[in-house]
Amino acid sequence: MPTGERLAGKLAVVTGAGSGIGQATALLFAAEGATVGVLDVSTDAASGTVTLIDKEGGAAQALVADVARAEEVEAALGDFVAAHGGLHVLYNNAGVGSRGSVAVADEDDWHRCFAVNVTGTFLCSRAALRHMSDGGTIVNQGSVAALVGIPSFAAYCAAKGAIVALTRSMAVDLAPRRIRVNVICPGTVYTPLMEPMLRARGEGDLELGLARTLVKYPLGRLGSPEDIANVALFLVSDEAAFMTGAVITPDGGMTAQ
Ligand SMILES: NC(=O)c1ccc[n+]([C@@H]2O[C@H](COP(=O)([O-])OP(=O)(O)OC[C@H]3O[C@@H](n4cnc5c(N)ncnc54)[C@H](O)[C@@H]3O)[C@@H](O)[C@H]2O)c1
Repeated sequence: MPTGERLAGKLAVVTGAGSGIGQATALLFAAEGATVGVLDVSTDAASGTVTLIDKEGGAAQALVADVARAEEVEAALGDFVAAHGGLHVLYNNAGVGSRGSVAVADEDDWHRCFAVNVTGTFLCSRAALRHMSDGGTIVNQGSVAALVGIPSFAAYCAAKGAIVALTRSMAVDLAPRRIRVNVICPGTVYTPLMEPMLRARGEGDLELGLARTLVKYPLGRLGSPEDIANVALFLVSDEAAFMTGAVITPDGGMTAQ
């Protein structure tokens, strides 16, 4: 770090930034000159990412909140704005999975999946919009699960589908303020979130689960957190100035076949 200045002077909050895709994105945004609010439900995870950014000479602040709880979200974003004076970029990345077909899905898991993925996106966006300058930008986190049926992932598919629809609604509503809103729908990325899913697909055998997943990917590999962070960087940068309401699929060709 620093690798560039594509986000020089920008104030950005990334949710779920303590691990995986969110952490890689927080590191990249900081490397490109942004001051990053590293928001996570886990204090240790948020601090861990801030330490990594500090070591690279970037600027970051840990923000602890459960994105499904309005008062925690508003306090965290309020702290960030009070410390830095504004907000230009929000990446609604925090999400949780939920296993099971509709025939067997657990009701509490269903509600938690919607609370974190969908309500969390709404609450963080609403809180951010109180502070965001006109011309700011929001990226939401979808999944290929919004676009194709993934076996035994009913709640997750439905929640990510809702995020795609919400993104289009937000893009239209916020266009008069020149606030752009886009959604990323990644294919499988090897992160802690995906490990239980890969293991289940391999009937307990992670390697088998990986092999069964890879056959769905024409490019012959899973994604990396950095693959998705690079797309997020493009979407929040001025290079994407004419894009809003777009559904972007960094998925190794998974949905192309
Ligand atoms: N990994 C994949 O294959 C994949 C594919 C498509 C979409 N996604 C989506 O990308 C996002 C990030 O996934 P990941 O694989 O990097 O996950 P991850 O589990 O590695 O990281 C998620 C982070 O979010 C935090 N988090 C969870 N619930 C939270 C809450 N209620 N409030 C605040 N923070 C919370 C966790 O503590 C964790 O640090 C999710 O929305 C996920 O659905 C992931």
